[in-house]
Amino acid sequence: MAKNKRRIASGIPVEPDAISLFDKAKSIGGSATCFFNNKGGVGKTTLVANLAAELALNFGAKVLVVDGDPQCNLTQYVLGDEEALDIYSEPDPTSVYSVIRPLSLGKGYGSKLPIRSAGNFGFDLIIGDPRLALQEDLLAQDWRDAKSGGMRGIRTTYVFADVVEKAKELNYDFVFFDMGPSLGAINRSILLAMDYFVVPMAIDIFSSWAIRNIGSTVGVWQKELRTGISMAEDPKEIPASTQSKNLKFLGYVTQQHKERGGYEDNPEDSGESTRRRIVQAYKDISENFPGQVKQSLGKFYKDPGFNPHLGDIRHLGSLAPKSQSQHEPMISVRGTGSYTGLRKQAREIYRGIATRYLENLVV
Ligand SMILES: Nc1ncnc2c1ncn2[C@@H]1O[C@H](COP(=O)(O)OP(=O)(O)OP(=O)(O)O)[C@@H](O)[C@H]1O
Ligand SMILES: [Mg+2]
Repeated sequence: MAKNKRRIASGIPVEPDAISLFDKAKSIGGSATCFFNNKGGVGKTTLVANLAAELALNFGAKVLVVDGDPQCNLTQYVLGDEEALDIYSEPDPTSVYSVIRPLSLGKGYGSKLPIRSAGNFGFDLIIGDPRLALQEDLLAQDWRDAKSGGMRGIRTTYVFADVVEKAKELNYDFVFFDMGPSLGAINRSILLAMDYFVVPMAIDIFSSWAIRNIGSTVGVWQKELRTGISMAEDPKEIPASTQSKNLKFLGYVTQQHKERGGYEDNPEDSGESTRRRIVQAYKDISENFPGQVKQSLGKFYKDPGFNPHLGDIRHLGSLAPKSQSQHEPMISVRGTGSYTGLRKQAREIYRGIATRYLENLVV
């Protein structure tokens, strides 16, 4: 497991105000946040890994990250190639799959979390597993049972809530979940187990649709599960802290890592009017974003008056692939030349998001 040392990876000491926010968040203890958008490729995994690294390495937080995406991108990102090869060459590696597997065998929750160290990132990790996708059917079937009050179904649906409970017992300050982009059964179980969700989004029309989908779908799930629990025979079997889970929206991060199509750079690629339309549409969308977020997710706001905008992540060019190949967070990528400037930007960006995240957590 990771050593819980404040390493000041970025060389910039954390401001006293941010430390006091962290101390407050720490006293709440073990809050669980997932990073979700049902649009793919918007930078969820990159944000989870780098925000968790900022909190672990610079704030000295004890963070557990769960890779809940069967694509295992986060696991590949943070583990070295050799370590990943060793682990996945084992016939039955312990992973997020080991958390669900006992349930599908009718054995209830597993007894111990399969936690590993995420090396250079400073946090602890439950690695992803392509076999998780095989459990989509189990979770979908048991969801039907849960909605009608079946204890087996409720227990299965809350499998990740049990992970969060166990992480709290292990004194984690934060539990983060990375997820794939679907609104399927695995992600339903993750979302229903969380205290908070953060939405990484691109500034485009599809992200507006995605937040509308999240708002309407999650609301229905919460209602259905509450009805199921109210009909259950033996709800005492599920801890009260789990039953009282009430997922809240903690904020959104905008990502601009897809540059606007290059129309501005290469006007000959497109007619001038197309270029102007695209730039105007981008402007309209970004101006309307706060209103749209409130409309779609307002009922999940942690606090009615809070500012959900956690920050903007600009395109960090070759720092992103470099960070992947070095298995280092962006704030500690090794390299000189253009990397010096990009790394500095990454340090400012992730410090800013971490501070805003803590602010919204303790609001
Ligand atoms: N700030 C950034 N600057 C440059 N590239 C970035 C940045 N953030 C993410 N990327 C790149 O964008 C791609 C998609 O990012 P990422 O995998 O984090 O998205 P995702 O939302 O998790 O995708 P999926 O829906 O498949 O899980 C990756 O190749 C990543 O390296
Ligand atoms: Mg991802």
